[in-house]
Order: sequence, then C-alpha cells, then structure tokens
Amino acid sequence: MNNKFITLGIETSCDDTGVAVLQGQREVLADLLSSQIKDHAPFGGVVPEFASRKHLEAILPLVKAALKQAGINNPAKELDLIAVTAGPGLMGSLLIGVMAAKALAQAWELPIIGVNHLEGHIFANLIRSPQLEPPFLCLIVSGGHTEITMVRSYGDYILLGETRDDAAGEAYDKVAKLLGLGYPGGPVIDRRAKDGDPDSFSFPVPMKNHKEIVFSYSGLKTAVIWQVKDMVERGIEVPLNDICASFQKAAVDALISKLEIAVDLTGITKVALSGGVAANSALRQNLRNKKGWDVFIPPLSYCTDNGVMIAAAGYSGFQRGVVSDLYLSPDPSWRLTSR
Ligand code: KG4
Ligand code: ZN
Repeated sequence: MNNKFITLGIETSCDDTGVAVLQGQREVLADLLSSQIKDHAPFGGVVPEFASRKHLEAILPLVKAALKQAGINNPAKELDLIAVTAGPGLMGSLLIGVMAAKALAQAWELPIIGVNHLEGHIFANLIRSPQLEPPFLCLIVSGGHTEITMVRSYGDYILLGETRDDAAGEAYDKVAKLLGLGYPGGPVIDRRAKDGDPDSFSFPVPMKNHKEIVFSYSGLKTAVIWQVKDMVERGIEVPLNDICASFQKAAVDALISKLEIAVDLTGITKVALSGGVAANSALRQNLRNKKGWDVFIPPLSYCTDNGVMIAAAGYSGFQRGVVSDLYLSPDPSWRLTSR
C-alpha cells in the first residue's frame, strides 16, 4: 500500500457537510465538519431542501480549509483521489457533494470514486482499529439505517437483515420530538435515560420473538406515544427520565438480540458498530460486556457522518480497482452490495 497516497473525502448525504484529507488508509491530515443540527432543530428533523442549500454554502469553503489544514498547496499535484458519497441519502444533499467532487476532479485532473455511505460507516472503524480484519459483522445504526451487514472482505458485503420501517435513530428522534426534548433525539434521550428507571415502563422490544434478523421500530415508537398520551389525559405528570430509560432499554435490547442471532447464524464473533446511534452509551456498554465477542466501536466523532470515513472507503475501493468517472450521479437508495 502506498502510504503517501492522499485522498480528499467529501460527505453530504444528509445534514452534515464533511470534508477530510486522508493519507493512506488511516492517517487523518484534515477532518472538518459543518453541522446543520441548529438549522434543522426548530423543525424537529431534517428539511431536505434547506439541507442542500446549506451544503452548497459550506462545501467549497470547507474544502479550502481542509486542504489548508492538511498543508496542501497544490491539490492537482498533491492529491491522488477524490472520494465522495454517492448514496444512499437525500437526493438534493448528495447532488451538492457529487457535483462539487466532479468539478474539482475535472479541474485538478484527478480520479474520482463514488462511495456508498454505508460502506463509509463500516470504514469508520478502521481509522483507530487497523487490526480489524474481515470477516466481521457490522451493525450500522443511524437516523436512516438499521442493518446488520457481514463483511466477508473489504468490498464484499452481505446484508443479513435490516429494518422494515423506522430506523433506530429515527425512533429516537421521533420519541424526543413527542416528549418535547428537541432534535436530534439520540443524545438527549441517552442523557436522560441515565437518570431514569429502565424498568418503570414495559415497552415492547421490537421483533423480539422473530428468529430472523429484522428490525422494526414503529411499534415501539407508537407504544411510547400511547403511554404519554394516556398519562397526559389522566393529568399525570410524565416522568421523562423514566420514559427515556424504558424506551432506550427496549431500543437497545432489540439491537443486541438481533446481533446475537447474527453471531449464532454466522459463527462470526467479531462485531463492529457504526452510525450515529453507535454513540449511544447503553449500546456501547452492553456490547463491551459481551463475553466471547471481539467488539470494535469507533470514537464518537467517527460514529456520526464525517468525511474521513468516506475517504477511507474510497481509498480502499480505489486500491481494489474501483473507480468512477465524470458521469457519476447520486443514487439516493443505493444498496450496499459487493464491488
Ligand atoms: O449517522 P448519523 O450522523 O446520520 C445518519 O446517517 O442518519 O446518525 C444520526 C442519528 C440521529 O437519529 C441521532 O438521534 C442518533 O444518530 N444519535 C443517537 C445518539 N447520538 C446520535 N442515538 C442514540 N443515542 C445517542 N447517543
Ligand atoms: Zn450516516
């Protein structure tokens, strides 16, 4: 592997503009993020049109700043590759990143590679855990995805199971909205859950009795809604921390129980975690306590969307001979398949 190889990574699939400069597979020369959380918070969720406008404002200044931070004065000469998220995600958001990447690739005469966002999340693990060698299982849990993927080798992925409705992070965000706790819901529910009693309410653990690997979060969300409505109607003060703790217990139990099935099914005990919900303290704690499992969890900043993971996945793909061209166009529902 050529460790002097330098990749510019661009991520704009949802509401974070991420730009990174990576040397080789994991040496981070620059890692910048422009988060839109404050812009979308008043609406209780991401407003797609607004998100793409914000990406457009942020992208070029962020590229410029990242190159400066990485000490790159002549990108055409010093960069070797541009990696950009091409899906899945919001069409308008993806378009900004892909258009910017294509314009830069053409201007600097550099190769370009479209990266699957989910593959990026898998590669977030590699930055700090170079020893993570396939085969392993990866639980990808974010605001848009809840799935278990088997990584047979880098570039060779098998989807073992996914959610049939809401993603886990989406359930956190919706429950937080209902409870008036703001957006995004994950961090605040996680915080409040620490001061609540997880056994005070018995919310259903999604798909608990199904032996196959399939997630479903809409029932859990609805159970919380009915519980809260009932208390409000009866004039009972809603014990927010207890609701958060009980919801979190069910939400995390569902993830762990499906991982257990995947481990049993495949015999693979190496388990990696990624996506925004991987920042969840109960999930991290439960996984770390798993006896006989070899667990990998990225640092918090690499759990949520970032440019580093896209650069890392792009670099790896390029080394395997994968490359895109200037006809690259975003695919908002791009499934993670082998390539
Ligand atoms: O990966 P990410 O940054 O963006 C997507 O690709 O969706 O994930 C964002 C999601 C949000 O739904 C947010 O509420 C959730 O991750 N999240 C958490 C925590 N921190 C962020 N969920 C549970 N516990 C957390 N500590
Ligand atoms: Zn993501």
